[in-house]
Amino acid sequence: MAFTYTKLALLSIISFISIFPQTYTSHDIESSFLQCFSPGLKNSNSTTKVIITQNSSSYAPLLQSSIRNQRFLENSVPKPNLIVFPNDLFQIQTTIICSKKQGLEIRIRSGGHDYEGLSYVSNVPFLIIDLTNLRSITIDIKEENAWVQAGATLGELYYAIANKSNVHGFPAGSCPTVGVGGHFSGGGFGTLFRKYGLAADNVIDAQMVDVNGKILNRKLMGEDLFWAIRGGGGSSFGVITAWKVKLVQVPSIVTVFNIPKSLGENATTLFMKWQIIANKLPSELFLHSVIGLAANSSSDGGKTVLASFTGLYLGKSDNLLPSMQNNFEELGLQHDNCTEMSWIQSVLYFAGYSIHGSLEVLLQRNTTLSSFKAKSDYVTDPIPMSGLEGLWNMLLEENKPTLIMTPYGGRMGEISESETPFPHRNGIIYGIQYLINWDSNEETPKHMDWMRRLYAYMTPYVSKCPRVAYLNYRDLDIGVNSGNASYEEAKSWGMKYFKSNFERLTLVKEEVDPNNFFRHEQSIPPLSY
Ligand SMILES: Cc1cc2nc3c(=O)[nH]c(=O)nc-3n(C[C@H](O)[C@H](O)[C@H](O)COP(=O)(O)OP(=O)(O)OC[C@H]3O[C@@H](n4cnc5c(N)ncnc54)[C@H](O)[C@@H]3O)c2cc1C
Ligand SMILES: *[C@@H]1O[C@H](CO)[C@@H](O)[C@H](O)[C@H]1NC(C)=O
Ligand SMILES: *[C@@H]1O[C@H](CO)[C@@H](O)[C@H](O)[C@H]1NC(C)=O
Ligand SMILES: *[C@@H]1O[C@H](CO)[C@@H](O)[C@H](O)[C@H]1NC(C)=O
Ligand SMILES: *[C@@H]1O[C@H](CO)[C@@H](O)[C@H](O)[C@H]1NC(C)=O
Ligand SMILES: *[C@@H]1O[C@H](CO)[C@@H](O)[C@H](O)[C@H]1NC(C)=O
Ligand SMILES: *[C@@H]1O[C@H](CO)[C@@H](O)[C@H](O)[C@H]1NC(C)=O
Ligand SMILES: *[C@@H]1O[C@H](CO)[C@@H](O)[C@H](O)[C@H]1NC(C)=O
Ligand SMILES: *[C@@H]1O[C@H](CO)[C@@H](O)[C@H](O)[C@H]1NC(C)=O
Repeated sequence: MAFTYTKLALLSIISFISIFPQTYTSHDIESSFLQCFSPGLKNSNSTTKVIITQNSSSYAPLLQSSIRNQRFLENSVPKPNLIVFPNDLFQIQTTIICSKKQGLEIRIRSGGHDYEGLSYVSNVPFLIIDLTNLRSITIDIKEENAWVQAGATLGELYYAIANKSNVHGFPAGSCPTVGVGGHFSGGGFGTLFRKYGLAADNVIDAQMVDVNGKILNRKLMGEDLFWAIRGGGGSSFGVITAWKVKLVQVPSIVTVFNIPKSLGENATTLFMKWQIIANKLPSELFLHSVIGLAANSSSDGGKTVLASFTGLYLGKSDNLLPSMQNNFEELGLQHDNCTEMSWIQSVLYFAGYSIHGSLEVLLQRNTTLSSFKAKSDYVTDPIPMSGLEGLWNMLLEENKPTLIMTPYGGRMGEISESETPFPHRNGIIYGIQYLINWDSNEETPKHMDWMRRLYAYMTPYVSKCPRVAYLNYRDLDIGVNSGNASYEEAKSWGMKYFKSNFERLTLVKEEVDPNNFFRHEQSIPPLSY
């Protein structure tokens, strides 16, 4: 995914954006909060500032530090009264207790990649708990596991693993700046997921602070809550502070390839074939298709649709080629098209970096900003040729549209729908992410409209009753809570993300946060609401 973002981001011309603190009428709330919080500072030796108020000169840069969608940088978007950067768990406990006391809502931010900005935007007085300072990673190669704090990024995790072993990896997303806090709690897939499942499938323990300020681990939280936070989203249940994950084995040499095909090069026929084989390929082979636009070489200034078939094979090219010959001969993959590399180099590759560059780029947390809107769908029956042709025509209406077609099958098809809250398992051929990026927020309505028309166009070709969606590609168009949503109201969007797991999530919520303190536009309501 990051591969595409990086490419698109390079094309963006980013204008300078400033965040002016709102004139606040809530001075009292803030002072009271600071007073209530003061025990939180007593035991801390850290010199970094823990609480940032709106009158601080670092407020705007720190708020912006991990905002990934420029749409939510607008002055008209409500800003937090305070931002808390905890250095320890006691400060998180204190923040929760004091927020409840002062009537402030909490937004929890790890990597800040939420598509709808729910980790840093709210319409009521609120503060952000930003976990950036809690990002230590401890790798145990002998036991093949790791503890990773919620504020770490995927890049930091991959880097730390590669630092200890060249035959271990972790199955999570491709974008190195994504935070593990949000990503693992919403599922988390990437190039290894057909072999090993989601990031959430490989979580074996967790640490979190609940609504009463209590610190829980797997044993203390119990299996219901532990189930809920592995795909149900963390932000409905508490502040997750660390995950314990199972590392997975990867060969010391893997193979990567990328074959782009335009419409004139039979992209449509190839995509038709891809739809039939993508989820049936060996689980060692991940072959996704990223579809965008490119210049049409035979027309001045005209565009054509370009489908790139990009693969990661867990093994050497000598073993990959016969498999491609058997399953997808039409693509014409040859030895020259394959590059053998280490697993961590494949991480660089899918993140859009040079595989010969330094691994340190994986530690960079800054990204280029642009505005975007994305949506997701799941496909259970191949889309017919006529459907694809209409889809290409819709892409040609836009400047920088992207479709990312992610093949399921393999391990994903073996895990039952109720094993975790993430229900998109057996029977899924592929998932679609529709993505549109733009530079200036003046253009926002036009692109949002296009995205919604595209989604409407796709209705006949994708999952139905319900039309399902991926939580980590958060989309407020599919439904939102109004204040404290009722179970029935939230069910409309909840069934789309979780199918029948939605009800169990509301049961867990009822047990752990019966007064609905951790709430937002798409939080799980308690069952009794
Ligand atoms: C450029 C880009 C590339 C992406 N690539 C992939 C990909 O390859 N695969 C994939 O599966 N997804 C991908 N995603 C989606 C990504 O998984 C989600 O956006 C994910 O939720 C981001 O987690 P975060 O911690 O960075 O975001 P945040 O915005 O910090 O959090 C997202 C949500 O989780 C909650 N949350 C965050 N931290 C915690 C915590 N510690 N405790 C409780 N709740 C918490 C937030 O409140 C919010 O509701 C990508 C997104 C972007 C923008
Ligand atoms: C900033 O605001 C906080 C709380 O609102 C207050 O305690 C503090 O004195 C203010 N600082 C300055 C420099 O105005
Ligand atoms: C703070 O520093 C003092 C002196 O170095 C040390 O004794 C104490 O344990 C430290 N406290 C914390 C919470 O780290
Ligand atoms: C691991 O990290 C340390 C410290 O950053 C560095 O000195 C060392 O070279 C790294 N080792 C490997 C194998 O990457
Ligand atoms: C694949 O390799 C063949 C043979 O060298 C070459 O002609 C073709 O251009 C390559 N395709 C891509 C996309 O690199
Ligand atoms: C496209 O496919 C047709 C029929 O399958 C084939 O004859 C033709 O050579 C292909 N064109 C290209 C550019 O590969
Ligand atoms: C490219 O442009 C030529 C000339 O205008 C046109 O005939 C052709 O259909 C275009 N190809 C695509 C794939 O749009
Ligand atoms: C992030 O910061 C580093 C170091 O300042 C810089 O080299 C890099 O280009 C930045 N990345 C982005 C995407 O802005
Ligand atoms: C939601 O319910 C809580 C607890 O009953 C209450 O304090 C809060 O005001 C309600 N919020 C809204 C928006 O209705």
